[in-house]
Amino acid sequence: FIRIADMKTVFSGIQPSGLVHLGNLLGAINNWVKLSEKNSKNYFCIVDLHSLTGLPNKDDLNKSISDTLKVLIASGINLDNSVIYIQSKLQEHAYLSWILSNFCQVGELQRMTQFKEKSSSFGTHSGLLTYPILMASDILIHKANEVPVGDDQTQHLELTRNIAERFNSNYGEIFPIPEKSIGKSGARLMSLRHPENKMSKSSDDINGTIYFNDSKESILKKFKSSVTDSENTIKYDPELKPGISNLIEIYAAITDKEIKDSEKEFQNLQYGEFKIAVAETVVDYLEPIKKKYEELTTNDIKDIVEKNLKLAHESAAETIMEVEEALGIN
Ligand code: TYM
Repeated sequence: FIRIADMKTVFSGIQPSGLVHLGNLLGAINNWVKLSEKNSKNYFCIVDLHSLTGLPNKDDLNKSISDTLKVLIASGINLDNSVIYIQSKLQEHAYLSWILSNFCQVGELQRMTQFKEKSSSFGTHSGLLTYPILMASDILIHKANEVPVGDDQTQHLELTRNIAERFNSNYGEIFPIPEKSIGKSGARLMSLRHPENKMSKSSDDINGTIYFNDSKESILKKFKSSVTDSENTIKYDPELKPGISNLIEIYAAITDKEIKDSEKEFQNLQYGEFKIAVAETVVDYLEPIKKKYEELTTNDIKDIVEKNLKLAHESAAETIMEVEEALGIN
């Protein structure tokens, strides 16, 4: 697992703040699996330091960390060229974050949509404000070129690019400028109950979110009660038909088909039949992940975690050495 100059490095992260849901899987993890089949070096991180901004209960956080880790391992990510690890165990993330905070304007942080949204509900502690700098350090610590994320992370990635450019122009070309990558569909899954809001872990209406470990019955029930519209035409139009479009999006993301083809496939069905067809596709998609998740033993996980943390540490230490040298603090 050594650095080869022309090999692409991929980094992405997920917060351990509750159960992994279908939005995480189709917007991000599914693309991690695909990228891990290619010839790249991949780092996939459980970003527990980020979750602290929500002031979680300690037992909940602890459980979420191990659950999320298991889901990532069970998702089918190719472990031969991918490193899955926990952010807090690699203290270089927080160290680099301090360094990078000097290359980021306060005004830029205040303009982040996620900061504006969250600061009203949790109050405003400075962790919420500086969150995107920690995210930049996650990406830059392994000199990632590509960051597969859902649509909601676009602004944070833009900021990361600005931070990297500013560091480079002051202290020399240390960081590659990372690109965002998004799957051809599924980048923004909406709640099944409130299709104007994105699907999230902590939605007010849990029937709008499909969790990775939902039972078949529960998935069917959630899809049957999903909110659509009063027409009966299956057409992709996110603005006028957000509910139906979201179902088409889910189907296209899982099957890797084009939106247009997915739409055509169902055009003669009633809404009720269409909902069941999508629900069954989701059940089939989640089945092997759930099965593997249940089969994983504590020992399997322990081995992977130890080996991967060592690899992540080697890569981070190398970057930190270059950064310290560039800054004159070596
Ligand atoms: P998080 O934990 O909220 O989500 C993890 C990934 O899932 C995607 N996602 C969605 N995609 C489609 N539809 C949805 N409804 C949906 N909900 C979530 C997210 O876009 C994300 O890709 N700040 C990040 C975590 C992070 C990170 C990083 C990501 C920290 N450092 C460095 C990439 C690189 C977050 O809160 O993701």
